[in-house]
Amino acid sequence: MNGGRARALPMVIRDPALPDEVTIYEVGARDGLQNEAAVVPVEVKAEFLQRLARAGLKVVEATSFVHPRWVPQLADAADLLRTMVRVDGVDYPVLVPNERGLDRALAAGVRHIAIFASATETFAKRNLNRTLDEQFAMFAPVVERARMEGLRVRGYVSMCFGDPWEGAVAPAQVAAVGRRLVEMGCDQLSLGDTIGTGTPAHVDAVLDACAADGVRIRQIAVHFHDTYGQALANTLTALRRGVTTVDASAGGLGGCPYAESATGNLATEDLVWMLDGMGIRHGVDLDALVATSTWMAAQLGRPSPSNVVRALAHS
Ligand code: HMG
Ligand code: MG
Repeated sequence: MNGGRARALPMVIRDPALPDEVTIYEVGARDGLQNEAAVVPVEVKAEFLQRLARAGLKVVEATSFVHPRWVPQLADAADLLRTMVRVDGVDYPVLVPNERGLDRALAAGVRHIAIFASATETFAKRNLNRTLDEQFAMFAPVVERARMEGLRVRGYVSMCFGDPWEGAVAPAQVAAVGRRLVEMGCDQLSLGDTIGTGTPAHVDAVLDACAADGVRIRQIAVHFHDTYGQALANTLTALRRGVTTVDASAGGLGGCPYAESATGNLATEDLVWMLDGMGIRHGVDLDALVATSTWMAAQLGRPSPSNVVRALAHS
């Protein structure tokens, strides 16, 4: 307890080189929970989604329609979408790898999907059971049909900043994969640092390569895992370049079951603290979000790795 002290707040100082507003694309329920050893009950997932939306997050990735044997943690996707309570004005995208996944997503009434490509050959094989080229053949009919149905389509690119099997990944290779997804019809590209090895100058190099390949900065979102503590610095670098959509995960939940060295994403609370300090609008109630992550940590039986959650939960 804080003995009557007001809770800590960052001093607000605007930086005119940064955007006025950022869209936080919340991935905790999908990227976070897909990596839990235990399967979280569907009622807990539904409550998590509702709390995240009530905390002011406007884009809350809900789950994945992938093969249930590949990601058993999210095998209840259809049940979840049937039973969850949606908050008005909130967008609930889901991951879809192929046409079978799209069929399932459409049957569940989904309006926004995300396909997920790999920048590297090895991860395409491990995560999608496809070669680098075959992944595009799998995604093309998904994107085409989704667009015909009026869905929004995000395209993730994984391993943009390094691959645990292949090592360094050339920025030009990332840009080439990203460009193919945009040409295929993706509205937005999310550049994933799946294993968290990127650093700020590397972010600049990848964004330069994307720009050189004709991808507009407004189409780009960033998706940083915080394995080496670089996620917030990398995010700030991307904001300075004009990126206005940032992926983050409540409480820093996360990882990827097919990339063992991946740990949690940038914690949404840590991002919100930084945005608050720089006067950048985001719409999230930080106290409500910390309460949500503290509740979720209790469900999972271990504390949140987020610095801001730890600081505020005990202040
Ligand atoms: P596959 O084994 O090659 O599948 O897996 P297939 O196309 O050969 O089909 C085999 C059987 O699976 C068929 O059934 C299909 O119907 C069925 P059968 O005819 O034999 O009875 N099937 C499905 N069933 C339900 N839903 C489906 C589905 N698809 C096929 N969607 C596949 C290929 C892509 C399906 C598999 O590799 C897969 O599900 N991979 C998903 C892996 C995953 O979810 N990884 C985590 C997300 S990516 C991530 O976390 C990174 C990110 O956060 C960004 C970052 O950090 O970089 C996004
Ligand atoms: Mg991820």
